Amino acid sequence: MPSAISCRNVGKVFVTGRNRVTALENITLEVPEGEFLTVVGASGCGKSTLLRMLAGLETRTCGDIEAAGVPVTGPGAERGMVFQNYSLYPWLTVLGNIKFARQLSIHTRDRNSSDVETASGRADALLHLMGLAKVASAYPSQLSGGMQQRVAIARALMTRPRILLMDEPFGALDAQTREVMHDLILHVSALEGVTVVFVTHDVEEAIYLGCRVLLMAPQPGRIDSIYEVQLPRHRHQEMKHTAEFLRLKSSIRERISGTCGIRTDTELLQKLSRKATA
Ligand SMILES: Nc1ncnc2c1ncn2[C@@H]1O[C@H](COP(=O)(O)OP(=O)(O)O)[C@@H](O)[C@H]1O
Ligand SMILES: [Mg+2]
Repeated sequence: MPSAISCRNVGKVFVTGRNRVTALENITLEVPEGEFLTVVGASGCGKSTLLRMLAGLETRTCGDIEAAGVPVTGPGAERGMVFQNYSLYPWLTVLGNIKFARQLSIHTRDRNSSDVETASGRADALLHLMGLAKVASAYPSQLSGGMQQRVAIARALMTRPRILLMDEPFGALDAQTREVMHDLILHVSALEGVTVVFVTHDVEEAIYLGCRVLLMAPQPGRIDSIYEVQLPRHRHQEMKHTAEFLRLKSSIRERISGTCGIRTDTELLQKLSRKATA
């Protein structure tokens, strides 16, 4: 399987005044086409920086990144990005928001009627796929968080990207809406055949969605380990109770605690209860 994303010895140092932060060190990674890769790790371990670099929104201090076989030097239509805070245009309707990216990517002078027709067809298809057909002419402020995030995903898919980069996209949603969004994004990414890199701080979310879970460690931000999720690719919510799921969840959680020097919940509780009874 050819790689959709390839990183070789990528590093990032932020310099602010006399302060130097090594946000990423020696990141070497291949993401095969069509993979759903999830990224977890303690706060500050460089997850967002890595994603922004893949998107071409952040420069790198060293190393090489290729996306869809082309060196990354800035943002590109073959890479779509979805953030946690929706970042929709409040003055545009749902349909207007979805079409916006495509309008930017077609040079106005070169645009012809068949481009416009294709764009309209694509926007319509995405409205239906994301369950947004009934709210096409609503404005973002009239929608729930889950619906707004559906619009953000549809907008990112409008240019038919080969790669979808998502930074804690469901972090602000309630648990029930998140579950719905999980099944939706699995369905949509498989249907579109898109490669996904999905950052989250929620281990359960990472296992449920991922073909592999990439675990990062802080100071300096680096790849700690990669876990294969040995579950059938067609996921359903009941899988969260299987032995394999629970085993993976506890080993990843333990490992995250180990990488950031924080005690596990169990250790902390034992310590607290010993204090209370003393
Ligand atoms: N623009 C910036 N300027 C300076 N330091 C930054 C900047 N962005 C991120 N950092 C630092 O880089 C490290 C990694 O940050 P980030 O990628 O946001 O981590 P995560 O998403 O895993 O929480 C942190 O120590 C953070 O403070
Ligand atoms: Mg982050």
